[in-house]
Amino acid sequence: MSSENASNEFIDFPDAEGAPSDAHSDESDVRRAVAPHQRDFPYERGEEAHVTRREFCNFLALTSTALFASAVGFAAKAALDSRHTETFAPAKVEGAESLAPGAALNFHYPTEDDTAILIRTHEGDYYAFGQKCTHLACPVYYERQRQRLECPCHEGGFDVRTGNVLYGPPPRPLDQIVLERRGAEVWAVGRKAGEHERSV
Ligand code: FES
Repeated sequence: MSSENASNEFIDFPDAEGAPSDAHSDESDVRRAVAPHQRDFPYERGEEAHVTRREFCNFLALTSTALFASAVGFAAKAALDSRHTETFAPAKVEGAESLAPGAALNFHYPTEDDTAILIRTHEGDYYAFGQKCTHLACPVYYERQRQRLECPCHEGGFDVRTGNVLYGPPPRPLDQIVLERRGAEVWAVGRKAGEHERSV
């Protein structure tokens, strides 16, 4: 977040090749920016629906083993999740205080190479996430009508409050930017991989 962006409500977001330099958090701009990426990494969801009988039997055989493993893994995951938050130098999110409810803006955190998106819900709460989709790194955008984050490359969708995957091929939630309110200002203070429900 550079000081020169202080007066701008919207900041450049995608670092994908071909992204417009003056892009903001708008669906049409994101779709235009990721079109080359989508061509390079085609993804046919129809292919996933084709499951052979053999694959299905293998799936059943593996299920019982997986259930046991997941029970053991759950405890380990809970312990690991607490270590996934990385702390970085706090940085003010420029323009956050004047962001209207139901709107979003783009910023960079923790470095200028890390694009992020800040959302203010209709209730006035702030949430922020790394903008790279966890599938193939296309930039997600805020879909105001449906109030969720969507990825235009392969139609992935994320919960706007938790970053959890709602549908589509993304394998894990968006990385969450940890926020802190300082008076009317909103500051980014850390980044966390995985699920984390928190607003400021
Ligand atoms: S890059 Fe494939 S769904 Fe986002």
